[in-house]
Amino acid sequence: MTDTHFGFKTVDEGQKAHRVRGVFDSVASKYDVMNDLMSAGLHRAWKAYTVAVADLRSGDQVLDIAGGTGDLARAFARKVGADGLVLHTDINEAMLRQGRDRLLDEGLALPTLICDAETLPFATGRFDLVSVAFGLRNMTHKDKALAEMNRVLKPGGRLLVLEFSKVAAPLAKAYDWYSFNVLPRIGQMVAGDGESYRYLAESIRMHPGQAELKAMMKDAGFGHVDVHNMSAGVVALHVGIKC
Ligand SMILES: C[S@@+](CC[C@H](N)C(=O)[O-])C[C@H]1O[C@@H](n2cnc3c(N)ncnc32)[C@H](O)[C@@H]1O
Repeated sequence: MTDTHFGFKTVDEGQKAHRVRGVFDSVASKYDVMNDLMSAGLHRAWKAYTVAVADLRSGDQVLDIAGGTGDLARAFARKVGADGLVLHTDINEAMLRQGRDRLLDEGLALPTLICDAETLPFATGRFDLVSVAFGLRNMTHKDKALAEMNRVLKPGGRLLVLEFSKVAAPLAKAYDWYSFNVLPRIGQMVAGDGESYRYLAESIRMHPGQAELKAMMKDAGFGHVDVHNMSAGVVALHVGIKC
């Protein structure tokens, strides 16, 4: 048996995906309102910046991994138009259902697929762009997932990883206080689940920082990786180009 971490807890590797599923099954129906509350709406700006960096063209082929309730998939679909394709995917059915229903209400019918980032069911060299927003942190074998993302990209294609990262030192104390005292309380009041939001705070601390993630992406086969810090490093967008 091999151990891994689930927030600050050490668990058997085989257990992690099951526990992560429990978190997202529990929060799915309140996920969007919680994102707005927790980040004071900032997640919208982080995602808008990601869409701007993606710079998609009509006809582009896009895979959104861990797409959840579909914020990026929706914005990408508007860029690639009817000639392009955006696949809205996630390992969690409850999250995908929320996303699919919301997109349908807005008049967007995207292909929605359950799939595990660690074993992507797509041909090698299939996509112009792959994105994963706030999902990589939850994966058991991040190296395997990054290698899969690299495999399904066309040569010259780009991977966009939007994820919580290492905040600038002067803000660290205040950010810790907010994460461990305020976040779980909001989670308890709004979603009836403080524990899942404690996991969120813990998983952020266990996730590789900017430089470490950049090195992992290079190890996974990305020839060039740029890092864009946002909100003083609370979040970073890593952009990897497949050689
Ligand atoms: C915090 S949500 C992010 C949702 C959306 N991308 C956003 O930015 O709002 C993280 C998502 O990662 C998904 N996830 C976790 N492990 C995964 C895996 N191995 N493969 C695909 N998705 C995964 C979860 O089911 C969850 O929907």
